[in-house]
Amino acid sequence: MSAFAKILSTAVQFAGNAVRDPFRPAGDRFGYLKRWARLNYCWVHRRPNIPTRTAASLIPGIDQMVIPLEISFCDWNITPLELFYICGIARATAPRRIFEFGTFDGCTTLHLARACPDAEIHTLDLPNPESHFQVGSRFLKSPESTRIHQIRADSRQHDFSPFHGRMELVFIDAGHDYDCVVADTRNALRMVAPDATILWHDYLSFGGVKKAVDEVAAQHPVHHLAGTEIAILQLGRHRVPLPDRKSCNAFLNDQLGSWLTSD
Ligand SMILES: C[S@@+](CC[C@H](N)C(=O)[O-])C[C@H]1O[C@@H](n2cnc3c(N)ncnc32)[C@H](O)[C@@H]1O
Repeated sequence: MSAFAKILSTAVQFAGNAVRDPFRPAGDRFGYLKRWARLNYCWVHRRPNIPTRTAASLIPGIDQMVIPLEISFCDWNITPLELFYICGIARATAPRRIFEFGTFDGCTTLHLARACPDAEIHTLDLPNPESHFQVGSRFLKSPESTRIHQIRADSRQHDFSPFHGRMELVFIDAGHDYDCVVADTRNALRMVAPDATILWHDYLSFGGVKKAVDEVAAQHPVHHLAGTEIAILQLGRHRVPLPDRKSCNAFLNDQLGSWLTSD
């Protein structure tokens, strides 16, 4: 696309966003302007550079699954929908070994352990993270804790060689700056078995995550999971064909419409 065409299409999109907002709060003089600026900020910064796919198109049967979730949601946790999808992916692929970068309170760790009753789960967090939470508190007293192995280290310095070629599911959600995501991604790619899935969280909201994932996508078929912040790479027999753009776009327009207008 030429520079002129790019500027024109951006201007059209910006103008479109200005008239697309039916929910301007009454009486807020600058509400319209603020929302317009926010819509455009979102449009520019939160667009995936990789193809968006529905979960059901990547993981057949996930839309029929019933997965119990223990929702006690706090700031750094993934959303309930993301938790459902990650557990659904785990259940569908039945990994025997799982690795998680970024344990935090252990919410995802515990749910992964429940979704895969035969799996061993390795989860890593800093030795001295910020003090407002206890690492792994959600699973420490659970029956699943016997299958959950905690590693307390900085992921950028840890030696992952004992795990090379062994992990069937890896979830990357530790440090969000570019260098950290690149390091974690390289280690994840070394740790995975031939049939494996790698998931990244915060693909849309952290520039470092997005840049690192986009670089992986230059060489591997990485998809953005519709309605979430998750990027997914399926390897070996879990790999699915490239996207059917038409059905993705129809779904995406639906999603984007409601997402752009919600608070
Ligand atoms: C967003 S939270 C993880 C949330 C968790 N995955 C969940 O689903 O609830 C990020 C975690 O990564 C940890 N972390 C940040 N940088 C890290 C690093 N370099 N090495 C290891 N852990 C790190 C933080 O201490 C924090 O607990």
